[in-house]
Amino acid sequence: MPTSPLICPSILASDFARLGQEITAIETAGADWVHVDVMDGHFVPNITIGPDVVKALRPHAKIPFDVHLMVAPVDPWLEAYRDAGADYLTVHPESGPHLHRTLKRIRELGAKAGVVLNPATPLSVLDWVIEDVDLVLIMSVNPGFGGQGFIPSSLRKIEAVRGMLDRIGSPAHLQVDGGVNAANARTCVDAGATALVAGTAVFKGGADAYAANIRALKGA
Ligand code: DX5
Ligand code: ZN
Repeated sequence: MPTSPLICPSILASDFARLGQEITAIETAGADWVHVDVMDGHFVPNITIGPDVVKALRPHAKIPFDVHLMVAPVDPWLEAYRDAGADYLTVHPESGPHLHRTLKRIRELGAKAGVVLNPATPLSVLDWVIEDVDLVLIMSVNPGFGGQGFIPSSLRKIEAVRGMLDRIGSPAHLQVDGGVNAANARTCVDAGATALVAGTAVFKGGADAYAANIRALKGA
């Protein structure tokens, strides 16, 4: 297991008036992926980024775009975000009637398929799709907003999913999202996470601080 996790800055915490420059800046600062939080004002109580915005942003960085879809129903949007340049498409099991079909469709579109568990979502949703995912995302806050506090029970959940992935020898990434900072990043990695999403902890202090913020998360 890598001791240095992938860092996936959530652009939700960036300056929306300068999104293109922000993405270039985090890539230069050492980010591994760009985490894009897509919210529909229905599945979660906030509205954010449509596929045309992702398409406009895609040329501003070479690193993978990791698109977290908080949209229901999600199936009608998969192709648009893939066409816009998403490399990973991550879906909530609650956002459609047939999770297995959704994951299969994502792979058919040529993207990596991710499944994301809310704090109250049981692990059993993974039982019959674990071989069909390239990424499992554990929400360590309830989705909808950046800047919330890390829910401690998420650590047990990360450990449990690490066990599930290891039992089948899955190379899937195990990602954590919400309230991740330099103080809790190490415990997430020790629990088995390979990728950390961080909004506030990356974008605090402005562009001059991004490289140090990312280093702090990687080395924590
Ligand atoms: C919440 C989003 C997160 C969030 C993370 O719905 O999925 O990606 O923006 O932001 P921080 O790191 O500030 O908790
Ligand atoms: Zn997210």
